[in-house]
Amino acid sequence: MVDMDKIVSLCKRRGFIFQSSEIYGGLGSAWDYGPLGVELKNNVKRLWWRDNVQLRDDMVGLDAAITMHPKVWEASGHLASFSDPFTGCTACGRHYRGDHLTEAIWGSKWFESLKRRLANEDDAVVALQKWATGDGKKLAPNLALVQRPEVILSLWKTKRSRYRFVQSEFGELLDGIACAPDGTPHNPCPNCGGQMSDPRPASLMLETFLGPVQETATKTYLRPETAQGIFVNFDNVLQASRKKLPFGIAQIGKSFRNEITPGNFTFRTREFEQMEIEYFCMPGTDEEWHQRWIDERFAWYQRYGIRKENIQLREHERDELAFYAKRCVDVEYLFPMGWSELEGIANRTDYDLKQHSNFSGKVLEYFDEESKQKLVPYVIEPSAGADRSVLAFLVDAYNEEKVRGENRVVLKFHPELAPIKIAVLPLLKKNSRIVETAKKITGELRKRWYSVYDDTASIGRLYRRQDEVGTPFCVTVDVQTVGDDKSAADEKVTVRDRDTMQQIRVPMVALGSVVDRIMAGGWMDAVREFGLFKD
Ligand code: GAP
Repeated sequence: MVDMDKIVSLCKRRGFIFQSSEIYGGLGSAWDYGPLGVELKNNVKRLWWRDNVQLRDDMVGLDAAITMHPKVWEASGHLASFSDPFTGCTACGRHYRGDHLTEAIWGSKWFESLKRRLANEDDAVVALQKWATGDGKKLAPNLALVQRPEVILSLWKTKRSRYRFVQSEFGELLDGIACAPDGTPHNPCPNCGGQMSDPRPASLMLETFLGPVQETATKTYLRPETAQGIFVNFDNVLQASRKKLPFGIAQIGKSFRNEITPGNFTFRTREFEQMEIEYFCMPGTDEEWHQRWIDERFAWYQRYGIRKENIQLREHERDELAFYAKRCVDVEYLFPMGWSELEGIANRTDYDLKQHSNFSGKVLEYFDEESKQKLVPYVIEPSAGADRSVLAFLVDAYNEEKVRGENRVVLKFHPELAPIKIAVLPLLKKNSRIVETAKKITGELRKRWYSVYDDTASIGRLYRRQDEVGTPFCVTVDVQTVGDDKSAADEKVTVRDRDTMQQIRVPMVALGSVVDRIMAGGWMDAVREFGLFKD
């Protein structure tokens, strides 16, 4: 598995993703998509929209406003309870999510170093002492063990000195090295070892004011999910589209959350894009529809190249479920920091429509022609992150290979996802006939596939560059294509496949139809028809 630093550095170098406001020192929780990143992200959103809206009879789309009536957030329950437990260090002031603290301590630099020291000594007291007066001073200056080693270690001596650290005793070890002067244990800060405050809820809602004068302006919130825009438009869409149950409404758009600990590159940010579906169905059919959506969404990621060993479904435990949810399953991806949520698929029952009905006084019901009865539909919600999907596709596509003794970095994107579909490369940029022909071919291919012309380096280097950004095919124009004083033009170009690095020689007149075929997965067919070309 590639580490995140490699992905971050490739993304910056090749123009996929940049740190937001970098020239001002950057904003830790926001990222900007560069020339190739915007193509990749647009491709992810386009495929999601095509597969979930345009290719289905039972789906329609929506694009609701980001700012909504403040009552929406009362009705949805976000104002009362959309929060995460928050804890801060009383020494260095760093903030962490209370429910992520143990992981953060476990992965912290100081704990890693302490673990190593404990593993290397038979006597725990000696190990702790050496560490407290050595590396601990730099890495965890505010840890009780580092600040008061004699007191803490005298306690250890009475307890156990022949100690071998095992993961299951993590809590016990922490209690012994992080405690107040009266001996009461506390959580240590992952950054400096200081005392963490007791967790309390912190709202994730980002406030804003609509109107020029703050005192009289309407206070509202930047939406924390796109879903509520769909629920409040349920009746508008139903009346306008005359859809019958079951049917769904899809939306792609920005959402905002005041996350306590954004991080892991674009995985958790305060501004992000969601791709959400609210699928309305008859009560009683909800469990079946839920399972169908779980299967469909799980298959979708694999259809566009996510390897099956890197993706899994995780059923929510009873105590994780929102009180109104009947069942929820996460699609998880094996990101560099471990298995993490890519998409959540929940059965939200009739909770949201009923809440908005109660708060707005508007009836949000469906009239069933068959039973001649009004009912409130149940809703299944497949809710995916566009940024997390982009990150998963990038990580999954990343490959490093040895080719003739050299390291080749290649992003093996599905052709539909690749930012650039075809690169047209002239073999000699000083030969005007080659250059003109290559530019003409680029112009033609561009009408159908996003293609680029590049003559800024030698052919070998141009291939490597295109491999590194995941371009599935390169077309090379050479002297044989255009002819010279000695030989007539053969009017053929070389087409190179990114993954196999195989080449075929194709007549220019057939190039458009060949590209159509190979973009749809027909490379081996083309090899059979034209034969492998070795230069
Ligand atoms: N309407 C349901 C809902 O919003 P969620 O699990 O909170 O559910 C759905 O969010 C998806 O949105 C997540 O699976 C993730 O892909 C994406 N997402 C949520 N918070 C995010 C954040 N802070 N940064 C990036 N993506 C996020």
